[in-house]
Amino acid sequence: MNTRELRQIVNGDQVSDGAGVQLKRIIGSPQLNMLDPFLMFDAFGSDRPQEYLAGFPPHPHRGFETVTYMLAGRMRHEDSAGNQGVIETGGVQWMTAGKGIIHSEMPEQKQGLLAGFQLWVNLPATEKMREPRYQERSAEEIPVETHANGTRIKVVAGETDIGTRGVIDNPYVNPLYLHVELPADTGFEQQVPGTDNSFVYVIKGQLAVGDKQRPLKAGQLGVLEQGEAVRLTAEQASEFLLVSGQPLKEPVARGGPFVMNTREQVEQAFADYREGRLA
Ligand code: CO
Repeated sequence: MNTRELRQIVNGDQVSDGAGVQLKRIIGSPQLNMLDPFLMFDAFGSDRPQEYLAGFPPHPHRGFETVTYMLAGRMRHEDSAGNQGVIETGGVQWMTAGKGIIHSEMPEQKQGLLAGFQLWVNLPATEKMREPRYQERSAEEIPVETHANGTRIKVVAGETDIGTRGVIDNPYVNPLYLHVELPADTGFEQQVPGTDNSFVYVIKGQLAVGDKQRPLKAGQLGVLEQGEAVRLTAEQASEFLLVSGQPLKEPVARGGPFVMNTREQVEQAFADYREGRLA
């Protein structure tokens, strides 16, 4: 089986988004515009309230999914359809914006560490105008697989090699979203469809990726070559995300919070938002 080697290391850019939240944009950056079907990947993490308190006041989305996974802290979510909830440490919210929602994402804390990720997953043309949908799961609802060697895998989406299934349903790109903890000098292997696009983001520690054992450090995202097997080793006690999905191979037209297939559809989304027809 073909091992996926490391194709590209992306460090990301420090940016300010929302009402002034400091975050690191890794996919959706000049270094890596997109990795079909993934349009954006942000990492946020700060214990300085002035870097996150302003949050993300109401803003629209259309045409894709936003996935928020919290490592620490609490984020309150509210939208124009009356949905609301708090994503807590270890929880995930997989939101299918479809034809449109207007939502806000605000820290539910005044101090302490707030850390996590937001991933944007594209929808196929046939689903961009579907009804919005939420899949919200708390840490307790996300299956955890543990191995005798100390490996711990939180299975947000997809399925591990020994059959632990994630809690998120997405038939469009069949995503794999694993949060893995590896003790030092421990190997990890996971099968993925050969034509998926896959990346690894190192949260802590350092990994050696592929048969070539190329190093990937904390804070770096590694884009993997195509192949059927992800193989890596922890050079020290490490924690990482492994994310994989089937590319859609469709035209992408982006305009701020809208991701459609054509420029005209993006302009339509802006018009619908202006005239109150989006949500
Ligand atoms: Co949003």
